[in-house]
Amino acid sequence: MARPSHIVVDLAALIHNYQWACQLAPNAQTMAVVKANAYGHGAVACATALQPYAPAFGVACIEEALALRKAGINKPILLLEGTFTADEVAIAAEHGFWVMVEDPIQVDAILNASVTKPLKVWIKIDTGMHRLGLNPQRVEGFYQQLFASSNVSEEMVFATHLASADETSNNFTLDQVQLFTETSKRFKHPVSIANSAAIMAWPEAHGDWNRPGFMLYGNSPLDADHPSSKGLQPVMQVRSAIISLRQIETGQTVGYGQQWCAQRPSIIATVAIGYGDGYPRSAVSGTPVVVNGQRAGIVGRVSMDMITIDVTGLDGINVGDPVCLWGKGLDINEVARHAGTIGYELMTRVTQRLSISYTE
Ligand SMILES: Cc1ncc(COP(=O)(O)O)c(C=O)c1O
Repeated sequence: MARPSHIVVDLAALIHNYQWACQLAPNAQTMAVVKANAYGHGAVACATALQPYAPAFGVACIEEALALRKAGINKPILLLEGTFTADEVAIAAEHGFWVMVEDPIQVDAILNASVTKPLKVWIKIDTGMHRLGLNPQRVEGFYQQLFASSNVSEEMVFATHLASADETSNNFTLDQVQLFTETSKRFKHPVSIANSAAIMAWPEAHGDWNRPGFMLYGNSPLDADHPSSKGLQPVMQVRSAIISLRQIETGQTVGYGQQWCAQRPSIIATVAIGYGDGYPRSAVSGTPVVVNGQRAGIVGRVSMDMITIDVTGLDGINVGDPVCLWGKGLDINEVARHAGTIGYELMTRVTQRLSISYTE
């Protein structure tokens, strides 16, 4: 008998969410962001499922792009952070990767590279995130240099990235959109602004190209309920099972550091998943799980390979019963809040110890 902990990824839900992103912004082209192993869901499987629908993919680095090419993904792939070293420019050109340019060092690397064919460049403008992107005051000069270079294709895109689009009442997004529009309009190239949150909540940010990641995996990045969340279906389900059940008395404690103390006679179920699988160690007592369709809360500290949950008063609980840690029926964002983090982190931190199976 194998350890009962694994991930199930619903590819039909992934495709559905992608189509929902397209529907929310019908005038834009929608690339699928599959960086960080498709946010933990398996980049090759997810890109393969989306390839008939998505005109392009977004990844963080050239290694991720090369792995997709090797697996048969032949659509354009955008390197969202551009190139990290000068030698990557020629590799990107050779494989037809699109390259974000977001720092003067990357501009120099492109201008000085020896490439076999011209690169398609996305020029990122820093409109307030202050992490990557060219200064709006200086972008004209960089643009002219790139446009004049035979290393660069004439088909450029202008892009920016939003700092607070998930905050539905924070008008900083509108300030960024305005600065971006003022800066980019004179160049007369297609534009790209929106991540998931902006596709869902900020139609002003819908451009010629949108770049959703998180929403494709079926959860909302927004800080408030929003009608656009209703079209999302969770893609990842993390599952395990109860491997032991015990009764404890009032006053007895559970787990490392004796952090949780029973206030009544309690039934404790031990579940075979822990921080070694990516379940967050920071999850506090009370973090929800679903056992046999019934909600329960974890108690005591998360161990490397196990958690303990309080199943006192639940119906018909037995060793071997399935436990859902997040997925359909248990919003990853709710689990994340109990662990002081966000759904993005939980998804991307699942470890390879959990095998992934795919349903279509
Ligand atoms: C430049 C860029 N575009 C798009 C995305 C996708 O963002 P999200 O997953 O919030 O949709 C990211 C993710 O961090 C990004 O860095």
